[in-house]
Amino acid sequence: MKTKFIKAFSLAILTVLCITTARGNGPLTKTNPLSKETKIEKKIDSLLHLMTLEEKIEMLHGNGTFTSAGVKRLGIPDFTSADGPLGVREEIVRNGWAAANWTTDSATFFPNGSALAATWNPKLAFRYGEAIGEEAHARNKNMLLAPAINITRTPLGGRTFEYMSEDPLLNGRLAVAAIQGIQTQPVAACVKHFALNNQETERGLINVEVSERALREIYLPAFKAAIQEGHALTVMAAYNKFRGVYCAENDYLLNKILRGEWNFKGLVVSDWGGVHSTIGTGNTGLEIEMGSSGSYDKWYMATPLLDAVKAGKVSMTAIDAKVVRILRVMLQTSMKKNVIAGELNTPKHYKTAYDIASESIVLLKNEKQLLPLNSARIKSIAVIGDNATRRFASGGFGAGVKTKYEITALKGLENKLGKSVSIQFAQGYSAKMNRDKKVTTPDPKLITDAVELARKSDVAIIFIGSNRIYEEESIDRSTLELPFNEQALVNAVTAVNPNTIVVVVAAAPYDLNEIKKNNHTIVWSWFNGSEGGNALADVLIGKVNPSGKFPFTFPVKLDDSPAHALNTFPGENQKADYKEGILVGYRWFDTKNIDPLYCFGYGLSYTTFTYSALTTNQRLYSKDEKISVTVKVKNTGKIAGKETVQLYVSHLKSTVLQPEKELRNFQKILVNAGKESLVKMELNVNDLAYFDETSNKWVVEPGTYKIMVGSSSKDIRQTTEITIK
Ligand code: BGC
Repeated sequence: MKTKFIKAFSLAILTVLCITTARGNGPLTKTNPLSKETKIEKKIDSLLHLMTLEEKIEMLHGNGTFTSAGVKRLGIPDFTSADGPLGVREEIVRNGWAAANWTTDSATFFPNGSALAATWNPKLAFRYGEAIGEEAHARNKNMLLAPAINITRTPLGGRTFEYMSEDPLLNGRLAVAAIQGIQTQPVAACVKHFALNNQETERGLINVEVSERALREIYLPAFKAAIQEGHALTVMAAYNKFRGVYCAENDYLLNKILRGEWNFKGLVVSDWGGVHSTIGTGNTGLEIEMGSSGSYDKWYMATPLLDAVKAGKVSMTAIDAKVVRILRVMLQTSMKKNVIAGELNTPKHYKTAYDIASESIVLLKNEKQLLPLNSARIKSIAVIGDNATRRFASGGFGAGVKTKYEITALKGLENKLGKSVSIQFAQGYSAKMNRDKKVTTPDPKLITDAVELARKSDVAIIFIGSNRIYEEESIDRSTLELPFNEQALVNAVTAVNPNTIVVVVAAAPYDLNEIKKNNHTIVWSWFNGSEGGNALADVLIGKVNPSGKFPFTFPVKLDDSPAHALNTFPGENQKADYKEGILVGYRWFDTKNIDPLYCFGYGLSYTTFTYSALTTNQRLYSKDEKISVTVKVKNTGKIAGKETVQLYVSHLKSTVLQPEKELRNFQKILVNAGKESLVKMELNVNDLAYFDETSNKWVVEPGTYKIMVGSSSKDIRQTTEITIK
């Protein structure tokens, strides 16, 4: 009786609920509103039905250097973009490349890509993204052309400064965080350049051939993470060809992998001038053509595309699919409602730039404990070298930032020590060069003056390296040699002042053999953003304990690097065959037993760390399980410091070629003096898979794997073994 009553009662309640729900105003509707995604898809659908073919075609190509059309009568605004990654690029005229000469377009200059990577700190990458996203939004940019995440395949690569690392995991972690930061704003991150833009030489023509395994294990993982974990809304296709087909219309890259396997729902934009066909791009290629030449209506994706549709050579379905993707991005950016305004140049943004810079600086050598400088005992400092007074926000081909300010190294030292120490400057070398980047005849007087100043100063700090003209987009470097006669300057100054510190300001590997051998104190800094000089000075005086680690390998000589050893750079007959396969960067050096000058992950601190008690939660694992690794890290010095604990894995008895070791996780931690931290890192057994070309699948081989934890790729402190069933 009782149960019968309960049943009848429940049925009545359920009926009421169903009725109210069906009417759409009941309690269930309230707790289950249309999801954001469904609303967006509905809106796209309704807009698409209202658009003419001509209006759709208008959306598929630029109508300005950095804009493409919306549909005014339907309330769809133009879609706007700006470069990163160094900061939001200054405003340029709508139809050209000249500066628009605005007075309101200055922005924060953030440390370059390899500097950000040297922090090994995804939290900083997120803050970078958030700040640059806010600035892009304040400048009314809907798409920010960053981050740039191609793999550093050769140390000579012209865009090494913009890119991050030779390692796919480090690259991906930072990219994901940066994208998530950017997209806290109504701004689409645009990850570039998809894919295999690893050299500038003939970048618009070169055909890259790479094994499927290397593609999957080295060149694509960061892009995959950017889409699947970072949820990047847009992707920029690279200039080059891949397996004979331009990236802008590469069916394999764009359809099979990006849209198919990775389920990417956003839009693909071309690199500027990177579209080469109407029918190919129309049918299998990207959504928006940018940067082509000639009048906009003549571009591949303009009137020629309209004609191709009318002639039945490109399907209406293909056009609609593109428009849908563009609208999907627009509805989350340019058409998003109720957004909070962005901000430019806030103290918070400059603090972010400072924090990144101060964690990116790499201490290479401090043999005499000259650093941190003991300012109480120093009365005079000779600051020497063109890079001490140079700014890096712009210069050279490619995107720069018209920054509100940039603290030079000299200014930073004056800011921090100027009251108590006499600081004098000598230029040391001239960075003038001709068009082939050959340095104009060195001026011996500059060295003599620098030597005189160094001789009478307590400490000499020489700022050498490169600059934004020497390292630039569109051209690879021709040598690893330090430019501008810098080695002669270093030798001359070092000979007269025993307290000489060498600071290299550059963003890619250089030949530091002689300096490493002859100098006791070496610091590496980068194109380090608006606050670069303050951060560097704080490292030199010990206010900041350096914690940067190299995101790529420095070879002893160029031919030690894989692409050069195998003579596959820059390729022949417009073909670059990546013969080194998966052995890129440290994977090559370690596997081939070649000692680098500075290894991947290298960087010292003013304190020291010891590692102990490496353990895994199990010894034996099956697929789909998680491996939990713990290790104790103790700060054995006298000051607090940050350490990047790096976890590498190798498969000892694989049936296929495996690198000696591969980075599988890392964690940056702060440890106070004398304290010990328990560091816990996880990895999935599935992350240990290699890409099997026969089955075209990721395969985890059973067997014994070596787990290595250390302070750099060559400084492994603890090892253990696990077995995969
Ligand atoms: C670069 C892109 C950049 C575009 C627009 C191209 O030369 O390769 O990275 O976003 O120009 O400035």
